[in-house]
Amino acid sequence: MPQTNSSIQQTVLTGIKPTGNAHLGNLLGAIEPAITLSKQYPSYLFIADYHALTTVFDTKFLQEQTYHIAATWLANGALDETTIFYKQSDIPEIFELAWILSCLTAKGVLNRAHSYKAAVDYNINNKKDADYNVNCGHYLYPILMAADILITNATFVPVGQDQKQHLEIARDIANVFNQTYGDTFVLPEPIIQESIQTIPGIDGRKMSKSYRNEIPLYTSSKALRKRIMQIQTDSKGIDEVKDPTTCNLFAIFKYFATPTRVSEIENQYKTGGLAYGSLKQELFELIEAYTANSKAVYESYMQDTQKIDSILTQGKEKMRELTKPLLQQIRNAIGII
Ligand code: TRP
Repeated sequence: MPQTNSSIQQTVLTGIKPTGNAHLGNLLGAIEPAITLSKQYPSYLFIADYHALTTVFDTKFLQEQTYHIAATWLANGALDETTIFYKQSDIPEIFELAWILSCLTAKGVLNRAHSYKAAVDYNINNKKDADYNVNCGHYLYPILMAADILITNATFVPVGQDQKQHLEIARDIANVFNQTYGDTFVLPEPIIQESIQTIPGIDGRKMSKSYRNEIPLYTSSKALRKRIMQIQTDSKGIDEVKDPTTCNLFAIFKYFATPTRVSEIENQYKTGGLAYGSLKQELFELIEAYTANSKAVYESYMQDTQKIDSILTQGKEKMRELTKPLLQQIRNAIGII
């Protein structure tokens, strides 16, 4: 009988790649929900630095982004008694497990993985060789992610919709292992953050680095204000009646204003008298206030990266107390003497 999630310790795990500055969409759609879950269950929160290596080849950038993501996690509450906070590259057991899992994964499964398949389709449509510019890390990405999860036997994995297939692959691989060598791994369940889909960027599409429509999280007040002033709206004048349901500015405003204020503004849309410029100013002030505390903590960590190093070292030690014995159990199960 495969282990069921009801009979084992429930835990939460999630990771973030250090590939670019975190934005408001990341905060509301990924970081905050993960932190909330991490207060309810013992948790593993980590920086997926070796996953970043499939796309980042700039030494300094990778270092900076790793500190940036670490400080962002820490500023939002990743440090508590029941959470282990670490970076992936500090846990060698993950990489040994990734090799083991790769030998149990049918190559066809990876051929069908969305991200790899999208790259191949793009090449074919552009009359290039199917694997042009695709590195093996990109191809094996889902296996490394399965190893991240399975090495902890985590039960809940909060992720965005785009990661759902990776979780399915992780479950499939865990199943193959359990059937081949006996019950070892818990089947992880994705906790999909629907809200990630709905936080729009300045152009109304989903907020995403790849669309370049993001509102950055920890930046200067001046840069934040400038960015908010760039939120796209229609060109209706103050006295004209406007449609709140299609207005991107209003959609973002709703995340930060009180319900009372939201309905006041909604009325102004419908009856006339609303100036987009002043609503943007109000939104800017709300976002500044919303992020003020965590921004101060973020900045203090960024000024003391040695502190981050020592927190990560503690996380590494706690993790390896768990991962070493589990990997030994796995080696025994497969017949590594
Ligand atoms: N692939 C995830 C992303 O791009 C990051 C990640 C790596 C991750 N390993 C993980 C997320 C394990 C959850 C669990 O967002």
